[in-house]
Amino acid sequence: MKILIKGNSGCSIEIVQKGTNLILQKGSSNTAYIPRLIKQFEKQSQFDAPSNNHIKIPAIYEICKKSNSVIGKMEYVYSKNFINFFETAGFEQIQHFAKTIIQFLDYEISHSPRKKICPKTLIYKIDSIGQNISTTDKTSQELLNRVANECRSLTSIDIPVGLCHGDLTLSNILFNGSDCYLIDFLDSYIESPLMDIVKIRQDTCFGWSQLMCRQSFDKIRLSLILKKIDCLVDNHFRQYKWYVQYYRIFQIINFCRILPYARSKRVDVFLRKNIELLLNGGDYV
Ligand SMILES: Nc1ncnc2c1ncn2[C@@H]1O[C@H](COP(=O)(O)OP(=O)(O)OP(=O)(O)O)[C@@H](O)[C@H]1O
Ligand SMILES: [Mg+2]
Repeated sequence: MKILIKGNSGCSIEIVQKGTNLILQKGSSNTAYIPRLIKQFEKQSQFDAPSNNHIKIPAIYEICKKSNSVIGKMEYVYSKNFINFFETAGFEQIQHFAKTIIQFLDYEISHSPRKKICPKTLIYKIDSIGQNISTTDKTSQELLNRVANECRSLTSIDIPVGLCHGDLTLSNILFNGSDCYLIDFLDSYIESPLMDIVKIRQDTCFGWSQLMCRQSFDKIRLSLILKKIDCLVDNHFRQYKWYVQYYRIFQIINFCRILPYARSKRVDVFLRKNIELLLNGGDYV
């Protein structure tokens, strides 16, 4: 048996039967993307999941590297995506999910010593985003300049650095009963749990994955559920001074990073609206 799915990244995703087990094979023959995909598999296989939590990570069985392609073979998880899961989730399941994610982020924090990051790291990041946007796109370049100026006003950024998934959006979580499986790990320019809080709130506060989702669902119901999760996450992490101080600037940079890849007017408008909102000190939409 062989089932073919196409992912967002342009990677091929195949489900293959091996004996009584299913294996998921994610691959790419895009030479520019191969190194990133190898790092993704390595990060997934090396990530130490907490043992007392409902967060799980599919096992990586093999990384087949060739000169012009790579295929990662991993455990297939029978699961629901976040849309299907929340469509039928009751109050207890929503609370359980929020608690699981918060515990996982706290686990990452406890494994990430505090480190002082030079604001130049953020400014270089913004410069590199600017290089991926046309110089004639004055509106975007101006927006990036405003973000860079905000970074210049920071003296030193003291945040936990160590463990992070790197792309912890709801679309990279597989829901299997009371367990959540994390997939699609990504190297981050700063390996901080703050990046994972930023990514999860990209969905719970701003509704990114909903925007990208093509299947039909009850939009009002999902918005209410995400709002609830967002309040629980935000309230919990407000106990950390670094979260209160730096969440906003990292969320702004996060949206800026997506800007060069916006393929539709709708996504472009969404990103600019939220960058503006955050630059003006707003948090909720
Ligand atoms: N281990 C797995 N078990 C079951 N399904 C999986 C597994 N890994 C991936 N999938 C399915 O494949 C889809 C795409 O996987 P993934 O998120 O890794 O790729 P992608 O989104 O295309 O990549 P990227 O996020 O890098 O653009 C997932 O949403 C999920 O439906
Ligand atoms: Mg993905």
